[in-house]
This record gives sequence, C-alpha cells and structure tokens, in this order.
Amino acid sequence: MSFDNRPIGVFDSGLGGLTVVKALKEQLSGEDIIYLGDTARVPYGSRSKDTILQYALEDAWFLIQRQVKCIVIACNTVASMALPTLQKKWPDQLFISVVEAGVEAVLQQKDLERFLLLGTHATVNSDRYRAMIHEKAPQISFYAQACPLFVPLVEEGMQDHAVSLTIAKEYVSKYAEINPQLCLLGCTHYPLLKNTIKKVLPENTKVIDSAEASAKFIYQKLYETNQLASKGVEGRKQFFVTDMPFSFFQIANHFMGTEIESVEKVQLEMIL
Ligand code: DGL
Repeated sequence: MSFDNRPIGVFDSGLGGLTVVKALKEQLSGEDIIYLGDTARVPYGSRSKDTILQYALEDAWFLIQRQVKCIVIACNTVASMALPTLQKKWPDQLFISVVEAGVEAVLQQKDLERFLLLGTHATVNSDRYRAMIHEKAPQISFYAQACPLFVPLVEEGMQDHAVSLTIAKEYVSKYAEINPQLCLLGCTHYPLLKNTIKKVLPENTKVIDSAEASAKFIYQKLYETNQLASKGVEGRKQFFVTDMPFSFFQIANHFMGTEIESVEKVQLEMIL
C-alpha cells in the first residue's frame, strides 16, 4: 500500500463546506486540508447554470494550483450542475462530490418508500439526485423542496434564531402528510440547521446530511486509489475565502468547536 501526503482540497460557495471539513477532521484526522469558501459570491444556489459553471471552474483552479491530491466539491449546487464540466476540463484530477456520497447514503436505507430532498433551487432543478436515485431504485417516491433562505440564514449565523424555525415550517411542514421515512439535507449549509429542520418534520423521519456521508465516501475513494495520508499526527488545515474573513473566522470557530488556524482572503482567477 502506498500513501499520498498532499492535501485534500475542499470548496464550497461559503461556509457550508465546513460541515464536510468537520466530518473529515473526525474521520481522517491525519489529512492536510485546504479549504476555499467563495464568500464574496455566496449563495450559488439561486444563480443560473452558466454562472455556477464559471464559479466552479475558478474555485477548482484555485485548489489545483495548490497541488491537492483530490478536490472535494463540498457544495451540492456545484456538484449537481458542474461535475461533468470540471471532469472534462481536468481529466487527471480526482473530484469527489457530495452528491454521489448523499445518493449512496440514501440507497443504503432499507425498505425506503418515501424520500424527501432539501436543497437549493439549483440542486433541486438540476434533477440530479432524483435521476441518480431512480436509476438504482425507481420504486422510491421522491419529493424535493428548495429552501433558498436557509443559506443566508446560516451565513449570517442565525441558525438558532426564531426566524429560522418560522422559515423551516414554511418550507418543510407540508411534507408531514407524506410522512417521509428519510430526509437528506442536500446542501452543505443545512446541517447547521439540522435541529430546527427536525422540529418541523414528523418525529419518525430520519434526517441525514450529505456532509457526514461524504467523509465516509472520501475515505473509501482515497483508500481505493492508495491516496490516504501516512501521518499519525493531526493534519494542517488552511482556510481561504474571497470576502469577509473575519466573520468567517468567528462562525467557523463556533461551528468547528476549535479555533481554526488562519483565514486568508484571496482573489480568484478568471478561467475561460
Ligand atoms: N452549500 C452549498 C450547497 O451544498 C451551496 C449553497 C449556496 O451557495 O446556495 O448547495
């Protein structure tokens, strides 16, 4: 077995991808991670496909220049819309997407009949989750709800504010009648709202998130390709954002439960 001590690159439109970094830190603590949050342009989820593709190319290029061994697309919006474009542009680069990880977690649920996806407009409209789930399990009744106000709430650090519960009710409570057995938080920002979302779903609905599912999936991919890091010590985590590094720092510290080492503001290069 060989090892690869290059960092894992992770990107998201903002701080949602930190939910993936946190899960990675717990499950693959020896890995170095370079994180990019495009906080200047968040949210991506209400933008057009062309714009999302352009942003995705610029985010990926930032990480490729830093010699990462793989790029985790810690953004369901980008993963739903742009994965084929990124793979075509950089065929030798390993891309790992939170959508594949989420779909795998859904398909592992036994006797699943009614499933609810929560995501951004772009993720829901891309139809990617439904197509991938129905390819393997066409019998599952699939419901999807776009929740566009969730991302700004999280970016503003308002996940525990009463207004979040009101908005969650508006989006989600109508599915009580359908009584889904499983609900996937198909946006990496949403795990920060997990407790609130659970309050407005039937008690028996199991809620899983694509961030947690991703860490297991990433481990599997790196193991299969002999690219796990050999180090026993905690890996280095570097954070880059395109705007507001201070508020990112505060929210990230709170969320990660430990002080993050540093946050640097960067400008992304335009890619054609
Ligand atoms: N966290 C992202 C996702 O998983 C993107 C949210 C957004 O920028 O709209 O979809």
